[in-house]
Order: sequence, then structure tokens, then C-alpha cells
Amino acid sequence: METQRLLPGFCSASQIQSIQNPNRTLLPTLPSSHPPPLSLRIPTPKEVSFKTIYYPKLRCRNGLRKAESLIGNGEGLQTGIRRKNLAVFVSGGGSNFRSVHEATLAGAVHGDIVVLVTNKPGCGGAVYARDKGIPVILFPKIKDQPDSLLADDLVSTLRTYNIDFILLAGFLKLIPVELVQAYPRSIINIHPSLLPAFGGKGYYGMKVHKAVIASGASRYSGPTIHYVDEQYDTGRILAQRVVPVHANDTAEELAARVLQKEHQLYVEVAAALCEERIAWRKDGVPLIQSKDNPNHYS
Ligand code: GRF
Repeated sequence: METQRLLPGFCSASQIQSIQNPNRTLLPTLPSSHPPPLSLRIPTPKEVSFKTIYYPKLRCRNGLRKAESLIGNGEGLQTGIRRKNLAVFVSGGGSNFRSVHEATLAGAVHGDIVVLVTNKPGCGGAVYARDKGIPVILFPKIKDQPDSLLADDLVSTLRTYNIDFILLAGFLKLIPVELVQAYPRSIINIHPSLLPAFGGKGYYGMKVHKAVIASGASRYSGPTIHYVDEQYDTGRILAQRVVPVHANDTAEELAARVLQKEHQLYVEVAAALCEERIAWRKDGVPLIQSKDNPNHYS
């Protein structure tokens, strides 16, 4: 759950904090003498633009061309930003997992997937992980699987991997409160609809796309990446992308269109997390700082 108080409107620049890097400084583009303080009123759009102090930019040598095709222009990573350790949770085929993994290898994501967690030891994602030498952890406790973990053991095992972020990618079990509390603002999930529509318990897999089409109310759908709290699909929304819903779409056709967008979006968001480009608005809304234009947040 969000720990911040919810307040209306935007905060002043100095109030935005990057949770991943509390030392990072965000400065307003306005002169500091500009009266009255932004924190006391709703600013104009111009006033919510920020300048970020960064280390000098370097070009990234490894795999940048592939990275550019996924996340934009040719500017490389900032120096001084530590490479992050990622855990991915899957229950199924794991195409999002593969997409992010390939992006880490190509240099598009400044992190490494160091462990995979699954409740289905034989699923496609687990098979891929073993093939790539990524350790696989079983969670939750499964009968006849002595290696499977309880929630507290999962937390302590993830600690041993020094996990920075947890990416849920088609993991069908509810995340235990122990994990949510152990990793505040560090667990994200991808959902194949534009939340808050078509989300919550029971909305998973093809059921989501069938419901979108059956509703007749949606001309657009698309993936949402959100932070994870103790319920299904209710955490703060971090990013969304839109795809059209065609009049004669089957659920399978819509799912394929959304999934393609998911792969791009998860790489973009994982890159932003690992490069510490997430800022939190005073009202608790997470924003992604553009890589191309550090003054732009979305
Ligand atoms: C995706 O559609 C994702 O949105 C949902 O589960 C599916 C996982 O697909 N949470 P894959 O296993 O990554 O192919």
C-alpha cells in the first residue's frame, strides 16, 4: 500500500522524491524566488516541469542499437547508477520475462534478472530460466515440493539475492503481505487491460480480453503496469499503452495485439526503474522521467 498521504494537485519540485535514489535532486526550472511557493497552490503546466541534476552522460557500448529500438534514442546510461538486481515472478509461458531478460542482455535495461519465482515448476518461464542459468524458486508452498517456500522464507531468500525490484509477469498467485511490506514501491505487475477497467480477482489471461470485447464499451485496450499492493490490480498505475479493439476482434487477436505492446512497455518501464527515473508526485502518483527529455514526466 502507498505510505504517502494523498493530497490533491501536484507537489512542488522539491517535494518530489525518487524513492529508489533519495539523494537525487530535482530542481524547478523556475527561479527559486518565484512567489508564492508552489506547494501552496495548484501550479500551471509550465511550473510542473523539472530539471534533473545528472552525472555526465556517456554512450552505452553494449547492445545499444537493439536497446534504441526498444526504448528510444541513442543516449546511453547515466554514470554512477548501480546496476539493479531483478526478480521476475511467472506462472506461464513467460514471454514478458523473456523480453525483459533479452533487454538486460542487450544493454537496454541496466539490471540483471538474478532469480525467477514461480508456482508452476514446469511452466515455459521456468524452463527458459533454467536454460539460461537463472535460479528458479518455487512459491508458494506446494505439496510434494519440499523446496517450495513459505512467504517469510521467500522474503529472506530474495534478500540473499539483494533484489532491488520484483517484476510480476503473469504470476497468478496473490502476492503475500510479507513481500509487499518487505519491498515497498519495488514490486510491479503487468496487466493486459487499461486498469482500473477489467481488473481484479478473476480477470486474468484470456478472460480479460473476452470481457473487454463482450462489454462492447471499449474501442481501446492495452497493457497497464502498476505497483503491487495487497489486492489484485489495485496498486498505483505507473504506465499504460493503448491498442485499438477492432469490431470483429476475437479475444485471441486482441490478446496478441496487447501482448506485443506489453513486451515493449515492460522493457521501457524496467529500464526506467533500473535507471532511477521514477519520481513520486505528492499525491502518490508515480511518474516516469523521459530518457529523451529529462524535463518531461509521464
Ligand atoms: C500477460 O498478458 C500479462 O499481462 C498477464 O499475464 C500474461 C503473461 O504472459 N499478467 P506471458 O507469460 O508473459 O507470455
